[in-house]
Amino acid sequence: TKRYYHERVLDHYNNPRNIGSFDKKAIDVGTATVGAPACGDVMKIQIKVKDNIVVDVCFKTFGCGSAIASSSLATEWVKGKTLDECLEIKNTDIAKHLSLPPVKMHCSMLAEQAIKRAIYDYKVKHEKLNNSETTTIETIASL
Ligand code: FES
Repeated sequence: TKRYYHERVLDHYNNPRNIGSFDKKAIDVGTATVGAPACGDVMKIQIKVKDNIVVDVCFKTFGCGSAIASSSLATEWVKGKTLDECLEIKNTDIAKHLSLPPVKMHCSMLAEQAIKRAIYDYKVKHEKLNNSETTTIETIASL
C-alpha cells in the first residue's frame, strides 16, 4: 500500500504530544489560535512561561494529519526554550523534519505562526514589547 504520510507524521498523529488547553486568562499563559483559510483547518497553541522560559505548552488542532503533526512537534520543540529561542523556530524546519510535501507546507506555517502569536500574546499581557518586536508582530499578523 502507498504511504501518503512520513512515519514521523503518523507517529505524532497517533500519539500527539501535549494535547490540552490552559486557562487563557492566566497571566503566565500566552494563547494563539490560527487558521488556514484555504482548508479551514484551525490550530490553537498555548504556552506557559516562567522567567522567560516556556515551562509548559499545549495544543488543539482541528485539521489534517500534517497540521496535527506540525503542532505536536512544535510543542515538543518549544518546551524548555527561552522565548527568543522559540521565535527562531521556522516552518521549514518543521516541514523538513516531517518530510512534508509542498502542498502541505502551509500546515507547518500554521505551527510557526501559532508559536509566534502565543509568545506575543504573552508579551502583550506583560507589556514586555520593545519597538522592534512591535514591528515583528505586524509582520506576523500579515503572514
Ligand atoms: Fe490545511 Fe493541513 S492545515 S491541509
